[in-house]
Amino acid sequence: MKALFCYTLFFVLIASTNFLAQEMVELSSPSGKIVLRAGIEDNKFVYGIIYNDTVRMEHCELGYVYADGDSCTKLDIHIFQERTVDEIWKPKWGQYSSIKNNFNEMSVVLNQVDSDRQIQIIFRAYDDAIAFRYKNLDSVDSITIMSEETQFGFKEDLETWWIWADYDTYEKLYNKTKLSECEHVAAPVTLKSKSGVYYCICEADIDNYSSMNLFKIDSLTFKSNLCPWSDGTKVKTKGGFESPWRVILITDNPGDLIESSTLYNLNDPPAIKELDWVKPVKYVGIWWEMHLGLSDWGMADGRHGATTENSIKYIDFAAENNFDAVLIEGWNTGWEDWGKQGAFDFVTPYSDFDIDSVVRYAKKRNIEIIGHHETGGDIISYERNLEKAFEYYKKHNIRYVKTGYAGGIIPSGESHHGQFMVNHYNKVMRTAMDYGIMLIVHEPVVPSGLARTYPNLLSFEGVRGMEWNAWSEGNPPSHTCIIPFTRGIAGPIDYTPGIFDIDLSNYIIKKKKWNSLDNGENAVHSTIANQIALMIILYSPVIMAADLVENYNNHPALNIVKMIPATWDDTKVLKSEIGEYIVIARRSGDKWFVAGITNEQERGVEINLNDFLNKNQEYDCSYITDHLLSHYEKFPEKYLMGNKVFTANESANTQMKEGGGFVMIFEPK
Ligand code: NOJ
Ligand code: CA
Repeated sequence: MKALFCYTLFFVLIASTNFLAQEMVELSSPSGKIVLRAGIEDNKFVYGIIYNDTVRMEHCELGYVYADGDSCTKLDIHIFQERTVDEIWKPKWGQYSSIKNNFNEMSVVLNQVDSDRQIQIIFRAYDDAIAFRYKNLDSVDSITIMSEETQFGFKEDLETWWIWADYDTYEKLYNKTKLSECEHVAAPVTLKSKSGVYYCICEADIDNYSSMNLFKIDSLTFKSNLCPWSDGTKVKTKGGFESPWRVILITDNPGDLIESSTLYNLNDPPAIKELDWVKPVKYVGIWWEMHLGLSDWGMADGRHGATTENSIKYIDFAAENNFDAVLIEGWNTGWEDWGKQGAFDFVTPYSDFDIDSVVRYAKKRNIEIIGHHETGGDIISYERNLEKAFEYYKKHNIRYVKTGYAGGIIPSGESHHGQFMVNHYNKVMRTAMDYGIMLIVHEPVVPSGLARTYPNLLSFEGVRGMEWNAWSEGNPPSHTCIIPFTRGIAGPIDYTPGIFDIDLSNYIIKKKKWNSLDNGENAVHSTIANQIALMIILYSPVIMAADLVENYNNHPALNIVKMIPATWDDTKVLKSEIGEYIVIARRSGDKWFVAGITNEQERGVEINLNDFLNKNQEYDCSYITDHLLSHYEKFPEKYLMGNKVFTANESANTQMKEGGGFVMIFEPK
């Protein structure tokens, strides 16, 4: 690992430029491609961004309104410092086995002239991003932030992919409009200029702070809006606080957004060094059957899913088919009282679930159990039981836990995305780390690269995932062509793909409707090849094959699923257009896994193998593609499978049908 630090003190006045004409400081990315300019304009501290020699953002104000007055107005630039970092680090899991972290940093201290208040802003320029964070320098015991004044103002109207900001959920379908046409959006939000420059506004290292959404203040400018506490304040903190990083990724093509590691680079190295116990997994689980209405989480009506017998069936299937883990939801009592405070104690099994024999059997078959903590949003009870609940899992050798927060937060008035919950999620993350437990978090606050510091934070929902197909009108094919470029930029997605029985009509007679969004006409809107491709396209260090095991037994396509790993050595997005299609190549050892998906439109794909395969080497390719008749609505379960030999100087061609996709696995001969 090479770390290069240079530390100088200087002050630069950039003479008049065509924007920000007053006193300016400037910071360039290592290649010079991205330049940040910041300085005082009309008594406010502002920044702008130049990319490929063109001004893209300008006059963007920075600062705060605290409960006792404003900050970052009437300022003097007091001092600033610069350093460069160029290092390589190795993540425990991810899209790459090693990550380059290369940035230039500049730190500005601002003095408010009519008070003794000071704030520092740390800017970093990466070759694919500008990031900055505020560091408060006041020595006071309490600060209440009423508003963060950060602006993101563009020079032209951009295509924008966004969901409505909501303080409790990101489980929505994306809109595509002009920047001028959206109002209040969740972060990450992704934008594209006419000339083909892509932006994603997101945040890194959210800790003891509220999460950010974006409010339009004029047709081309967003302002950060922090999710409030129940009393309307935004952040309760003290002197010395650091905000999360505000990040603007800027790239020449959409694939580079997916390839970026900048969010991780903005987080600190691991909090502890001994992390051999952190392992990505591929899993099946007692899950889809409840969402389909075939069984239940609770025991009340005699349709309990998480029985000892059903668990053994899933463990056997996992052991025989190259899976690492089995998720068991609904094993603990309380589901009948969902929504009431104190419903779950997290340690009492239902009478038909013998946890000791299930974990003993799993151990014998070398399968990990993924335990479940559904809180229903009742944070008061969960925090009261947290240590006991993790102790219980540890005692039973359960090292993976899926947490869930489906329901209104208790204490009432707090929101899933506010500081109260950020602090809760991070408390669970740190407690789990102490117990050697890895987490999958549903109904989370959007991830922010914290997994670099806490690699036990494996995956997150925070997206409209597969479950919506079981009990609502579902997710259209374009949805999964958008989320890798939006929510996916924030971190791993536990989307839970891999449904083989796609036309859900078989279940109509057997199912019991349990969700009010269910109009009875459910289906998974994709072909089977698309479902398998999603396991590669949507990166997660926990990959679920979500279907019932009886739908996998003896299915030829399971052979492709069996080969897919949950972590990668390298990743290249070969072609993509947001909302249209994506083709990604990922390497594990000497094998390359290429996956593609398309939206509602059929399209041909040509893959130049010399973009990633070794020259002069023959490869065996196992593939699954759409069939001539495949279509996400008509014949979604049709597919073609086969094997073919390729060399790097060839290209591989295939046709993705409507809502379709493919997977090709290249293994050296
Ligand atoms: C919502 C989660 O997203 C889903 O995965 C889980 O099965 C249910 N809540 C029940 O906890
Ligand atoms: Ca959910």
